[in-house]
Amino acid sequence: EAIEKGGYEHFMLKEIFEQPRAIGDCMRGRLSANEGRLVLGGIREYANKLVNAERIIIVACGTSWHSGLVAEYFFEEFCRIPVEVEYASEFRYRNPVINEGDVVFAISQSGETADTLAAIELAKSKGAIIFGVCNVVGSSISRISHEGAYTHAGPEIGVASTKAFTAQLTVLNMIALRVAHQKGTITERRYHELLVELENIPAKVEKALKLDDQIKAISERFQNARNFIYLGRGYNFPVALEGALKLKEISYIHAEGYPAAEMKHGPIALIDEEMPVVFIATRDSSYDKVVSNIQEVKARKGKVIAVVTEGDALIPQMAEFVIEVPKTDEALMPMVSVIPLQLLSYHIAVMRGCNVDQPRNLAKSVTVE
Ligand code: G6P
Repeated sequence: EAIEKGGYEHFMLKEIFEQPRAIGDCMRGRLSANEGRLVLGGIREYANKLVNAERIIIVACGTSWHSGLVAEYFFEEFCRIPVEVEYASEFRYRNPVINEGDVVFAISQSGETADTLAAIELAKSKGAIIFGVCNVVGSSISRISHEGAYTHAGPEIGVASTKAFTAQLTVLNMIALRVAHQKGTITERRYHELLVELENIPAKVEKALKLDDQIKAISERFQNARNFIYLGRGYNFPVALEGALKLKEISYIHAEGYPAAEMKHGPIALIDEEMPVVFIATRDSSYDKVVSNIQEVKARKGKVIAVVTEGDALIPQMAEFVIEVPKTDEALMPMVSVIPLQLLSYHIAVMRGCNVDQPRNLAKSVTVE
């Protein structure tokens, strides 16, 4: 087992550090910005169904559901296709409306999650075309899907999903760009910019991983916290959910992820001088609004930990702790901004003496309802 962990103390840490490679592997042979090439071999026969889709329904569970939320933004922004992101367990039991012209995406690391599998069986029986985004080759979901794309992140052993998440975002981004390009809903310029930026993501994730020592120090300070709030907007809203999920899964600290603007409708009541609030506040179209949300937390004496874009001059004047990540396109930022949150939950869990690779009550793959 020590050999399998490749010198890391836990599988989770190894998998966090494998992300530059996993994201690179996911793009290999599929994307070349130089040649303006974006080819997904697993999406051929039904590619036109996707391009002409009237609606996309994404079904998934857990971390994969968070990838689906980011993908909703990709597909709507780039392809102008309306998207619904569904918990597979809810979708399957509510007699969902599936029309001709709808396509369904199932996102699953293991490809074996019972609820996701049952949801796509149902959709398939109603005539929907199913695209699978799985990590495990030959898994049940990949077999039952009409077409799809593997994430090629390599085996993920830690129960808390890390590299599968960033690889899912990579694949979903490539799919959305490919569809948008064919549909003509993206300008050539933006399309090309995004291909170049995608290719740069592994190097940016590598840089974000260098924050490890700084994040360890922040973890020391908050290891005994009883609660955490994570806030973000736009593309960083699902990142807030994912950051909170990672922390509760492995450290057993209660954590809530929320869209930052929605805080005033509830979570703001929880904020006092004891409450750590993690803001994912990178430079994007909602930056100014997030800055106001940070001020609202400060006014209530909350302790702000902010993930910001390198060189940000404003937020460091407000936040107790600032974590600077490399700049990228806002659509791709989740792949970078999630890295410090994975590390934060990892270090806090280790400091609390938790079993990070096999947290209590959780399973890597949930093959029962
Ligand atoms: C379990 C795992 C999570 C995972 C979820 C969905 O709860 O502990 O890490 O996100 O299942 O799994 P899937 O294999 O379908 O992505």
